[in-house]
Amino acid sequence: MPAVFETDLALPNKRAGKVRDTYTLPPSTDLLGNPTSSRMLMIATDRLSAFDVILPTPIPGKGKLLTQIATFWLRWIEDQHLSPTHLITNELDLIPDEAFTNSTTRTMLEGRTTICKICKVIPIECVVRGYLEGSGLKEYQATGTVCQVPLPEGLTQADRLPEPIFTPATKIDHGHDQNIGFDQACEHVVDLGGRSLMETLRERSLSIYVAASAYAKDQGIILADTKFEFGFPVDDQGNITSHDPILIDEALTPDSSRFWSATDYQPGQPQRSFDKQFVREYLESLVASGQWDKSSPGPQLPDAIIAGTLERYTQARNLLVGLTH
Ligand SMILES: Nc1ncnc2c1ncn2[C@@H]1O[C@H](COP(=O)(O)OP(=O)(O)OP(=O)(O)O)[C@@H](O)[C@H]1O
Ligand SMILES: [Mg+2]
Repeated sequence: MPAVFETDLALPNKRAGKVRDTYTLPPSTDLLGNPTSSRMLMIATDRLSAFDVILPTPIPGKGKLLTQIATFWLRWIEDQHLSPTHLITNELDLIPDEAFTNSTTRTMLEGRTTICKICKVIPIECVVRGYLEGSGLKEYQATGTVCQVPLPEGLTQADRLPEPIFTPATKIDHGHDQNIGFDQACEHVVDLGGRSLMETLRERSLSIYVAASAYAKDQGIILADTKFEFGFPVDDQGNITSHDPILIDEALTPDSSRFWSATDYQPGQPQRSFDKQFVREYLESLVASGQWDKSSPGPQLPDAIIAGTLERYTQARNLLVGLTH
């Protein structure tokens, strides 16, 4: 499958994130002639970012797998009445012919597109952790807390926490996200709803995590931790049309979460994972041997790392969504 590294559509407001490219779709009306909410086209490319650096080597097909997994969860979250979401459709037909160009054709985008409601993004990463790993483990070993939340003594790597915890981070446009306490998060969104907004986000994030973890576990995946984003829908002029936050972005994918194999789970050691951990470990080995310093540009990935990453993302898709989608 040819990889899609970047896109170039004849649509306004292009924004290239680390993995997704987004554009604004032309305004439209519903069957009764009323304007629909403003719509965004989000394209999952095959770019991979690690340690906040976009690597020069794409993972061919990763964007399609991410789209399948995120779409599955967004629909599931709506079906379970856990939160409204930004998802409208994955239909390519809604993209006008004039949008396509010589370098970005309709065929290239098949399976990678999400049309969603444009939102004012709430600048908080809503992180939920159910297990101890990564930066959380490091902090716990140093201080006995994770993001200022005190935890019982004696926990070991990859241990399940007594209950899932909500550990917000600021969403920074350029640079690493920074963990903050709940009170700081309330302060950070004081103009958008402050504490009462943060309480809603915490409640929604935790309930999605709890329900989705139970579902995933039955499919053989432990959702060790994950990150959600929320926003307020806006109209074509950019005015907020509802102050009920909706779930945006991707959700519960191997890019935004730690996915572990439930059958191999054994605390006290690193876990077999279906996420970016495999690439991170390879990159850490380059760092350890002085071949990379985690700054941009990142190194090229060897074929075995590309194949291993794709295999893990495919396993995650197969377990969660099924083989036939
Ligand atoms: N419904 C939505 N309305 C507006 N923006 C959205 C919506 N859903 C997702 N986004 C934004 O689209 C971008 C998706 O691209 P991607 O995840 O590749 O970017 P990123 O590199 O993680 O984010 P950023 O560039 O903001 O650091 C994110 O900035 C995300 O906040
Ligand atoms: Mg992102």
